[in-house]
Amino acid sequence: MARTPRVIETIAGLRKAVGTYRKGGAKIALVPTMGALHDGHMSLVEAAKKKAARVIVSIFVNPQQFAPTEDFSTYPRTMDDDLARLKRLEVDAVWAPDKTEMYPDGFSTRIAPGGPAYAGLEDAFRPHFFGGVATVVSKLLLQTAPDFAFFGEKDYQQLKVVTRMAADLDIPVQIVGVPTVREEDGLAMSSRNVYLAPGERRTAPLLHRTLLDCADKIKKGQPLNRVMADGGQALTAAGFVLDYLEARNADSLEPVTNPGQGPLRLLVAARLGTTRLIDNIAV
Ligand code: PAJ
Repeated sequence: MARTPRVIETIAGLRKAVGTYRKGGAKIALVPTMGALHDGHMSLVEAAKKKAARVIVSIFVNPQQFAPTEDFSTYPRTMDDDLARLKRLEVDAVWAPDKTEMYPDGFSTRIAPGGPAYAGLEDAFRPHFFGGVATVVSKLLLQTAPDFAFFGEKDYQQLKVVTRMAADLDIPVQIVGVPTVREEDGLAMSSRNVYLAPGERRTAPLLHRTLLDCADKIKKGQPLNRVMADGGQALTAAGFVLDYLEARNADSLEPVTNPGQGPLRLLVAARLGTTRLIDNIAV
């Protein structure tokens, strides 16, 4: 029978559990999340289980990465369902601190990531975001001291920022990226998809279809600028408000003018009504 994961809410409790895992000689994997778990999160857990005997999933809706205008207070919180899912995958522990355990009174340190955090993609529209992510992820890595930490390619720039930060701060962890899990119609799974009204939900898969279409045209040798401009127009015509649709170097995230220059990644962010969706694919 599946084991119920241990829910740990204090730093002291976490240190004890991690100490016990370490004494047993087990490798530890961390999967950081903000809860409202879906099959995308579950694929990270499955990947983690393949690498490490002990898997810790953190569930913490991190106030530091939300701007005051964003959805912190309405972000879906589904702890009971999340625990049931994690039980099925036999996760060892769920690290679920409250806000004051993570950020006690007087907390005043913020990690300021550079490099990929200034690629001019998410950072251009959510300037507070990567500082908040870097701060909480560095804390999570120090708290759990994992051998591996798993992040989704769905948030491609975040994966790059976290990888750079862990290397720059000499945090002894291997950051592992996991491919995006999609609904049958191609929409990337996201905790925020529940915000979509039925009509918006029907339009949403066009985001992925447009990326595929752009990648296909680029591979056929059509001019990059033209392909991306047409892709943007298709999205706008369908009712998306586009933040960006860009072709970038898949490693550095730098802009590309010549598709022959190296591996390409297409990245998009667009709003449907009040819901902001992001996606990306390799070319
Ligand atoms: P959250 O949005 O809950 O995502 C947690 C992890 O799941 C991230 O690494 C994200 O990239 C991955 N993920 C989300 N949707 C996915 C999908 N469809 N396929 C594969 N992986 C997917 O990202 C965050 O939380 C936070 O910023 C966090 C890193 C936890 C820091 O607060």
